[in-house]
Amino acid sequence: MTITTRQLLGGVVGLVAAATSFAGPEEDRKAFQSFYFDRFPQVTDHADFKNGVYSILPEARVQWEQIEEFPPYELAIEEGQALFEKPFANGKSLADCFPNGGIGIRQNYPYFDTARGEVVTLELAINECRTTNGEKPYPWKKGPLASVSSYMAYTSRDAMIDVKIPDDPRALAAYEDGKMHYFTKRGQLNFACSDCHMYGSGQNLRSETLSMSYGHTTGFPVYRAKWQEMGTLHRRLAGCHESVRAKAFKAQGPEYRNLEYFLAYMSSGLEINGPSARK
Ligand code: HEC
Repeated sequence: MTITTRQLLGGVVGLVAAATSFAGPEEDRKAFQSFYFDRFPQVTDHADFKNGVYSILPEARVQWEQIEEFPPYELAIEEGQALFEKPFANGKSLADCFPNGGIGIRQNYPYFDTARGEVVTLELAINECRTTNGEKPYPWKKGPLASVSSYMAYTSRDAMIDVKIPDDPRALAAYEDGKMHYFTKRGQLNFACSDCHMYGSGQNLRSETLSMSYGHTTGFPVYRAKWQEMGTLHRRLAGCHESVRAKAFKAQGPEYRNLEYFLAYMSSGLEINGPSARK
């Protein structure tokens, strides 16, 4: 069964009055953002959506701000910096693999690599830097990779997400794949990301208030009280899939990279404030 993007995007495209089948990423992004602006008129400063669900929960926000005063992710930043600066056996280091020595660049990830024809996330680039220099890759979801990613996000705080979709049909296809993923129902519970994080955003599900996808990528990696440790975005995505009793995809496989590409593009213009703390 093939589902057209238009069917999938029924929700979003419906928002773009007189939507045409030509709605591209830029139109999607505008419609996506306006959806949240209309749904949460109390968030008068749209830049505040970078704070995730706390932008709509004044009481939880007070607690969260207290937690952020003694951030539980601080050790991860320190560990990440040490790992980042530690030379590989061959004398090179992570800084050699990245533009600007890896400092203040988080906002540009993920990007579509036109030479390779695929989406490259920050975590993928970190591990590939290690393997091309003869080092072992880190596990994808937590631990040292989350620490290095935390440090790199930290050096990029306040920079605005600037994810681009280059003029390359493969880049558009990766974006469309991520978008389709977002709007596709899955799992025994038959939920799409959009069911919870668009149409359900602001509502309660068990003890939690569902966050908005506008701002979903700004704060990662996150320290979660539930995990008692750091986790990457792909760890969280897998958790959401499991919560609807769907099989999670592999962290850093093409599915989650394309999904991250879509999510980050939708959050364009918001500031990076990772790493951060969540319930
Ligand atoms: C059944 C509802 C449900 C579905 C479907 C779902 N999630 Fe979630 N998700 C949650 C809940 C509950 C949380 C924790 C509260 C919150 O932050 O929204 C969460 C948290 C998240 C977070 C972390 C937000 C933060 O600031 O820490 C991200 C990112 C996320 N979901 C993305 C997705 C994506 C992408 C999909 C589709 C693959 C998805 N979710 C599907 C319920 C859902």
